Amino acid sequence: MSTSSRGACLADFGHDVVCVDILEERIRGLERGEIPFYEPGLDSLVTKNVRDERLRFTTSLAEGMRNAQVVFIAVQTPQSSSGEADLTYVMEVGKQIGALLDDYKVICTKSTVPVGTARRLAKVIRDAQKKPVDFDMASNPEFLREGSSIEDFMRPDRVVIGTEAAPAEHLMREIYRPLFLLDTPIVHCPRIETAELIKYACNSFLATKISFINQVASLAEKVGADITQVAKAMGLDRRIGGKFLHAGLGFGGSCFPKDTQALVRIGEEHGEPISIVAAAIEVNAGLPARAFAKARKLVGDPRGKVVALLGLSFKPNTDDIRQAGSLELTRLLLEAGATVRAHDPVAMPGFRKVYPDLQYCKNAYETCEGADLAVLVTEWNQYRQLDLNHLGEIMRGKAFLDCRNVYNDERLTEYGFAYACFGRPRVRDGEVVS
Ligand code: UDX
Repeated sequence: MSTSSRGACLADFGHDVVCVDILEERIRGLERGEIPFYEPGLDSLVTKNVRDERLRFTTSLAEGMRNAQVVFIAVQTPQSSSGEADLTYVMEVGKQIGALLDDYKVICTKSTVPVGTARRLAKVIRDAQKKPVDFDMASNPEFLREGSSIEDFMRPDRVVIGTEAAPAEHLMREIYRPLFLLDTPIVHCPRIETAELIKYACNSFLATKISFINQVASLAEKVGADITQVAKAMGLDRRIGGKFLHAGLGFGGSCFPKDTQALVRIGEEHGEPISIVAAAIEVNAGLPARAFAKARKLVGDPRGKVVALLGLSFKPNTDDIRQAGSLELTRLLLEAGATVRAHDPVAMPGFRKVYPDLQYCKNAYETCEGADLAVLVTEWNQYRQLDLNHLGEIMRGKAFLDCRNVYNDERLTEYGFAYACFGRPRVRDGEVVS
């Protein structure tokens, strides 16, 4: 998540926060309360804390660091072509921090960085110092989801603080003191590498959970079982838990795809392959092709067919399309000669940059007009209660591919649609039909 989200939340805890970014335009916009991406509730949180003078924005790192006790590094760590996190920006900012350091501060990484980064960064900072000034390193990974980052920050399941130094631990605990009232557990890791590994382990575990259920969903289709019930019953076992067991088009976004790859790389580098996560990545990569095969089954050869995509973002409540299943699905459809029409409440501008020639529409119904197949790609709320009667009237064909298991076969059949989803059997007179 962005610096502005974390900054606004920390300011809302009552701290004085200065957010630093090199982009002048972004900083000026934030000062006016303009958020450069879609995140529910963030604009009002920024505006409120700017007004209350707890939150400021600047392009000057020197100004940002002036009275700071803790400096959070939250720059991006893009994925390099080999799958590992690219630390160029982190190390560059480390050099600048080192050069500016003139009194004791805690330097804390927030970006998801490979295990061992904080220790490497400490050396970069030390080497860049003009005079020897004491500082401590900390790692404070976070578990914010796009679209609900504020709630996740304000009500976390736990706070993880990795630091080897007592003053740093004290300061970090102070920062999160407002969560004390919620009884939020604070996990202090005296080995900073532990905190760094926790983030990768969590994201990779959740991603693996999703791939697990997706693979079982494929089996469910073959044996005539219902994956939603399987997942529900699994989830009721408290040792498993019901979250991240929704079968469908799989995981995308800026974290799971990147962090799973990075963990696999870290394992390889240390001669300890994390093969479970490698398998989870592979299963996930195959899901758009599975969706495409289902589309083929519904409408036959896609050449000359019109396909309506409902939802483009990697999940609802975000305009993020990074690693979204919609990208690959669109590629497969276009390659097969289909005409693709699309709608998303907020992700169309981003998608247009990748696919400028799709027919972008103003709502679900306009998208489906004249279409042979409607594909529910992202489970935005506005696609959950579609008027199926109307849809049937305006579409050329009556086929519906539900990549998020929002609808069911019974209901769609009632309206005359051919329906396909992920991991739920079609039953006619008690018999499973393919
Ligand atoms: C994730 C982590 O949840 C968060 O803790 C971390 O800090 C950043 O990465 P985010 O990427 O914002 O957050 O989205 P999340 O809600 O976790 O969903 C990730 C992807 O998994 C989405 O594409 C979603 O559609 C998919 N997903 C999620 C499933 O396919 N099935 C599920 O059961 C849950």
